[in-house]
Amino acid sequence: MSNSKNIVWHDHHVSKQQRAKLKEQKPCILWFTGLSGSGKSTIANAVELKLNELGKHTYLLDGDNIRMGLNKGLGFSDNDRVENIRRIREVSKLFVDAGLIVLTAFISPFQQERDKVRNLVEEGEFIEIFIDTPLKVCEGRDPKGLYKKARDGEIPNFTGISSPYEVPTKAEVHIKNDKMSIDECVEKIIEYLKNRRYLEC
Ligand code: ADX
Repeated sequence: MSNSKNIVWHDHHVSKQQRAKLKEQKPCILWFTGLSGSGKSTIANAVELKLNELGKHTYLLDGDNIRMGLNKGLGFSDNDRVENIRRIREVSKLFVDAGLIVLTAFISPFQQERDKVRNLVEEGEFIEIFIDTPLKVCEGRDPKGLYKKARDGEIPNFTGISSPYEVPTKAEVHIKNDKMSIDECVEKIIEYLKNRRYLEC
């Protein structure tokens, strides 16, 4: 921390509210959490497409993509996962400040780390969306063949197999992805946003 002691926060002339007003929306983070293969990225992509069609300004941060750039070099130990989410929450906060509706799709297995994101932004700006797909279903899908490798002992610390996933206890939206179509999932999330007036200013 010694290199940060001579740094002073600088307020911008243009506020978050002014940026959001131009975009006619309330900026927020749609935080998708769930096991690998649960459908987080698929649903987040479909929600972003719908928001885009509605004329809303969005940005999607996706686990695999971010791990190829900003978070390249981080692995899957508990410490690395904590650092992964720390960077994402800071970037998400900046994008919220820019007036955007941010969608994130990370396993984010630890409740404490998800709560840190919730506490970093203002009340109502963090919307936790639990993509609740049973391990058996995720493993059956195994789109990247990773569960098989994890079972064969080729991937250590694999979430759900050899690393924990802490189920959200206070998610704003609970999606049982194995029982709903993608369209129904999207509709449920868009309804949540409409009912709470996120899509207007
Ligand atoms: S998180 O736990 O740190 O939030 P993140 O969402 O960024 O994880 O990355 C998860 C993706 O990385 C998975 O969808 C999967 O494709 C891949 N992956 C590679 N190794 C692992 C592992 N040990 N555990 C979970 N996912 C892994």
